[in-house]
Amino acid sequence: MNKQDFPFFNNTDIIYLDNAATTQKPQCVLDAMSEYYLNYCSNTHRGSHDLGNKATQSYEQARKTLADFFHVQDNEIIFTKGTTESINLLASSYVKKNFDTVILSELEHHSNILPWQLQDLQLEIIPLDKDLNIDLRVFEDILKEHPHSFVSITHISNAFGIVNPVKELIYIAHKYDCKILIDGAQALSHIDIDLKDLDADFYAVSAHKAYGPTGVGCLYGKYALLESMDPYQGGGSMIDNVSFEYSTFLAPPFRFEAGTQAIAEVIGFKEAINYLKSIKKEEEGLLSYAKKKLLELEDIILYTNATNVLGNISFNIKGIHHEDIGILLSKQNIMLRTGHHCALPIMKKLGINGTIRLSFAIYSTKQEIDKTIKAIAKAVRMLR
Ligand code: ALA
Repeated sequence: MNKQDFPFFNNTDIIYLDNAATTQKPQCVLDAMSEYYLNYCSNTHRGSHDLGNKATQSYEQARKTLADFFHVQDNEIIFTKGTTESINLLASSYVKKNFDTVILSELEHHSNILPWQLQDLQLEIIPLDKDLNIDLRVFEDILKEHPHSFVSITHISNAFGIVNPVKELIYIAHKYDCKILIDGAQALSHIDIDLKDLDADFYAVSAHKAYGPTGVGCLYGKYALLESMDPYQGGGSMIDNVSFEYSTFLAPPFRFEAGTQAIAEVIGFKEAINYLKSIKKEEEGLLSYAKKKLLELEDIILYTNATNVLGNISFNIKGIHHEDIGILLSKQNIMLRTGHHCALPIMKKLGINGTIRLSFAIYSTKQEIDKTIKAIAKAVRMLR
């Protein structure tokens, strides 16, 4: 139980079960960000004064912290606004120029669909089995038909918590000369991610889903691939030389960080990673506890029997609209997300327009689950 690390919970009895949308922030993250603003607020990678140097050092230390955490090189970490911007960057600077086809699963978040559509790339979709898993043979069959494609797949589904077998997916993708991105937005707070071992070509995360601030995340890319890529945006700081006739750019990762960056947020991200390293994740037990308790209620509809599920559980109650449950639980001080979770294609496949989703973090407790189940039962009684 790490609730005491999170000042949000000091003066409230809110039960917060919307952690897949964003997590609360521990004191150490807030302190690191306010220390920057209070004591060394300054721009990075410009000028030569002491404050600027201190800000640059702290910013670059964040890159190193992330690189060490993921077992990769510092110059393979690009700071972005988050997973969404990371995928848009990749679509525009790399995939559009090198591939015609992008292979996705049916489980993807809109942010892993729209960036490819906006670049007019052809989509091939891996159908899921009845438990919302990818059958690796089906995946391989698609790759046989579409070798030399780009593959982009979520590590953990934000809508149903399914954990994809990313190591196997990456291995198979490489057999067919594909490059592969893993969308790690939901995974960072739940799984240890060793990118060297996984051998992913690209991996994207957002800080705010793992106890860090909003507005920052990173894109990992193998250095040789990053080197082959053009900038995504132009602006201050990312250049080698500029003239009206011709401009040249810095090497990665700086080539991809145009303009003043989210400096305080990057520094907060570093602390969030340090915090993640210091905690013991105990949520797996919570998820199976929540599932068991939910199944004690009448008329619960779950959409998967898979056991490779982490972070969230999604369900409906026969005859009741998910939004009504969301509103009535909010009145009882319980915050959870209802709706399509920005994953409309999988909702359409299941013939529903949304679910009720409980999503957990390290401060979630069994007592909170018990209270939530009681609150759901009460809401159902009112609605019947
Ligand atoms: N993608 C976030 C969620 O699942 C916002 O709620």
